[in-house]
Amino acid sequence: MRFSRMIIEAESPEQYGYDRIRYNLTESSTTDKSLKDVGVRLREDMALSYGDHLGQPALRNLIAQKYDASPDNVMVTAGACMALFIAYSALLCPGDRVLAMHPNYPANIEIPRSLGCEVDLYGLTFETEYRMDVDRLISMIKPETKVVSITYPHNPTGTVTDEESLRKLMGACEANECYLLFDETYGDLTVGTRLPHVSGMSKYGVCVESLSKAIGVPGIRIGWVVANDENLFGQMLAAREQMCICGSALDEECARQIMEKHSELMSQIKCEVDEKRGIVCDLMENQSFLDWVKPQGGVVFFPRIKSDIEIDAAEFYKTLNDKYGVFVGPGRWFDMDDRYFRIGYGWPSKEDVSQGMRHIIDALQDVCGK
Ligand SMILES: Cc1ncc(COP(=O)(O)O)c(C=O)c1O
Repeated sequence: MRFSRMIIEAESPEQYGYDRIRYNLTESSTTDKSLKDVGVRLREDMALSYGDHLGQPALRNLIAQKYDASPDNVMVTAGACMALFIAYSALLCPGDRVLAMHPNYPANIEIPRSLGCEVDLYGLTFETEYRMDVDRLISMIKPETKVVSITYPHNPTGTVTDEESLRKLMGACEANECYLLFDETYGDLTVGTRLPHVSGMSKYGVCVESLSKAIGVPGIRIGWVVANDENLFGQMLAAREQMCICGSALDEECARQIMEKHSELMSQIKCEVDEKRGIVCDLMENQSFLDWVKPQGGVVFFPRIKSDIEIDAAEFYKTLNDKYGVFVGPGRWFDMDDRYFRIGYGWPSKEDVSQGMRHIIDALQDVCGK
């Protein structure tokens, strides 16, 4: 196994320093919450012992209810990132192929590569509004394809797939005996009705989710994987035990308390996110520098500097960062041209989202005006 560091992590705001960023439009989560914000109380006499290797049973029950699954099919992990690592490690052998979207949350491409697999990329293009054509995707499944990987709502484009396409894809995966890894880390930030969970559709359906993005508690590192294939689950448990035996008792207790009031917390968070999405869409409709696809869910979208605008992208980012204190996720984070960038509108306050967005246009104006 050989690992390469992902640019998105090396250049992440937490590595760069939050205190050096005035308008942080790089994040793909909602505003970070404190223990108080999410109503978590910890007892001083709480035992700090090893826990159940699959995760605290009460927490797994709550997750299982959300998925209409058995708690035996739920494994709690340190964030969705670890859930992805465990699932890919259990599903893949060197030389296997994975079919994944590009652009993507880079771990969905890099983890299989680190495991010695070939990744076939399905390109989501601006010209087709980053839409996934399910028939084209299915036509790319090969006999060696062991995993098809989908992110919902999609990071970095903010687009979503529909139920009919999802069911068709699940059927094709079953027919080819390959797994559909459904990374629904942003699932709770769906606008309208959320798609059904693939873990309930087929033994080839594997779901990954976390509390990081929608609830906004990435610091407690809680995610999970849900799958109902017994063999796969056994492999995942072995992988998990070799990595860290079990999860953090503290994190899991916080997560249990959060999951108990999950719907209540989410309805408030979703109202705030809807307002911020409204602010962003209004501003985007009234500018002439960027082409964009309206976000359909999540808290990010992926505009592109108009192709007829001559611009030095490096100078644009320098002006944006140094003069205006605004940070976004440049295209290179997603192995794309830097004329594309990801805007995250869920994390900053409404005022900062609005001002940060205005400054993006100011910076483009400054650099193109020369
Ligand atoms: C699609 C997707 N999956 C998984 C993750 C990992 O998140 P975490 O490990 O904090 O749950 C991210 C983080 O950006 C993501 O965008």
